[in-house]
Amino acid sequence: MATALPEYVQPETMDILFSKEEIAARVKSIGEQISAEYAGESIVLIGVLKGAAMFLADLARSITVDNTFDFVAVSSYGRARVSSGAVKLIKDIDNPIEGKHVIIVEDILDTGLTLSFLRQMMLQHKPASLKIATCLDKPERRLVPIEADYVCFSIPNRFVIGYGMDFAERYRGVADIRIMPENPPGH
Ligand code: IMP
Repeated sequence: MATALPEYVQPETMDILFSKEEIAARVKSIGEQISAEYAGESIVLIGVLKGAAMFLADLARSITVDNTFDFVAVSSYGRARVSSGAVKLIKDIDNPIEGKHVIIVEDILDTGLTLSFLRQMMLQHKPASLKIATCLDKPERRLVPIEADYVCFSIPNRFVIGYGMDFAERYRGVADIRIMPENPPGH
């Protein structure tokens, strides 16, 4: 059933939470930390489509150890993931990860439902190790106990767009991370 798109709000009118320069500096530093921690190893970065695409692209370029990347996609219903926790995988990884050092790369750790689901899924593939990198963390919104190993920024419960993150599929290409004037329903 077709639903009307929300009214378009110019992203320039929204407040900047993190500028592209602040994001770049933080991603570089996480990349350096990962490179130091995995020195001499190979790692597989698994990005969660579509929101993590920008973060993964920048993170991969700031990691100096041998790395490959893959993508997964999970179902979402409009903006809100199924609150029962019944997250569904709609695109799996392309290559085996058994025995590999894996880092799941996500845009936002919010309720934690998506990453809990993905972590369980990935553990079934028996990786040598499994960590989580997220660009943003909203600890106040957590419904299940899960923490990321690498976090660029921890933020309060405000709905943000830009740097891969969307509202109704819009604004992913906005370079800075900006705050929507109002949180959408369910957030
Ligand atoms: P959760 O941790 O399972 O609740 O899901 C996190 C997902 O919800 C993220 O990957 C985003 O796609 C989406 N999300 C949560 N908060 C925001 C936001 O502020 N802006 C854009 N997407 C969000």
